[in-house]
Amino acid sequence: MEFNIALLRGDGIGPEIVDSAVDVLKKTAEKFGHKFNFTPYLIGGAAIDETGKSLPDETVEGCLASDSVLLGSVGGPKWDSQPPSNRPEKALLGIRAALGLFTNLRPAKLYSALKEASPLRADIAEKGFDIMIVRELTGGIYFGERGRRNGENGEEAYDTECYSKMEIERIAKVAFETAMKRNKNVISIDKSNVLESSRLWRETVHEMAKDYPEVTLTDMLVDNAAMQIVKNPAQFDVIVTSNMFGDILSDEASQVTGSIGMLPSASLGATKRGMYEPIHGSAPDIAGQNIANPIATILSASMMLRYSFDLEKEADAIDNAVNKFLELGFRTADLAGNTGVKTLSTTEVTEKILELL
Ligand code: IPM
Ligand code: MG
Repeated sequence: MEFNIALLRGDGIGPEIVDSAVDVLKKTAEKFGHKFNFTPYLIGGAAIDETGKSLPDETVEGCLASDSVLLGSVGGPKWDSQPPSNRPEKALLGIRAALGLFTNLRPAKLYSALKEASPLRADIAEKGFDIMIVRELTGGIYFGERGRRNGENGEEAYDTECYSKMEIERIAKVAFETAMKRNKNVISIDKSNVLESSRLWRETVHEMAKDYPEVTLTDMLVDNAAMQIVKNPAQFDVIVTSNMFGDILSDEASQVTGSIGMLPSASLGATKRGMYEPIHGSAPDIAGQNIANPIATILSASMMLRYSFDLEKEADAIDNAVNKFLELGFRTADLAGNTGVKTLSTTEVTEKILELL
């Protein structure tokens, strides 16, 4: 089969890790007899430097014309003084909205080979965990009305959390459908003891649950959830939550797997076209040093094959190669910590994974 993939390398370590995932995709295509065409587009700081705009129209059009998008990461101190409407992060929110990607799937699982890298106590890590975080991606406070104004105490700023029933229904549906293919367990996370938007969230998720009698639905308050992820992560199967809570909890869940450098994500909408990106950021402190862990991006490429192209065998092949790489004891700097284990560079990791494919 033939697919057109838009590449948004972005900033910081973005170009290095995307190149690594592209090598893995090319090898996979070769092995299974497919053809992937790659077209790069500018986004984030790199786009500001070239065109003045963090999200050029050409990028949006190119992504809309593609079968799927692979993204590295955006942002860095160089562009921190950009006006809010032109920040690299704004481009990321903008492209998600332009492509209608309201669902963000963030799997956080503990690889058995990485139990020692997890900051969790041994008896907790021993039980393992495999969580699918379903984060709402184009609504809530990241997209709500915001501004500055003069208040009672002088200057003030505000951001608004707003969810329509429609937005909650469509993300809840994704969560329940996802759970049906897994362990049939959904934990919906909100702050309904305080927020009205969370009360509508909870009500709506429960209404949707009636269509999925086989799925067990539990509510959890977000502060408790933050605690439960370190206390007993094995209790989670599918988590469904709002944009901001999902942003925060997915970083937490990723770190307990050993490193944020391991976690991929898939952003999906109503069509087969998705955008795939590691959940970590642009890590400007290590950019250009060839030491970034490309695994999250490689696994994101695998999610693209699985979710957008229905290439299950091919995705399994990539996941297995990564698994083997870890089982063989290879480590990147972020995974090794201060254990003294010899670590591999970004290009060395890529070569090893290509070999194992
Ligand atoms: C993420 C990031 C982004 C987000 C930022 C960079 C806008 O933190 O993908 O988790 O909040 O969605
Ligand atoms: Mg984040």
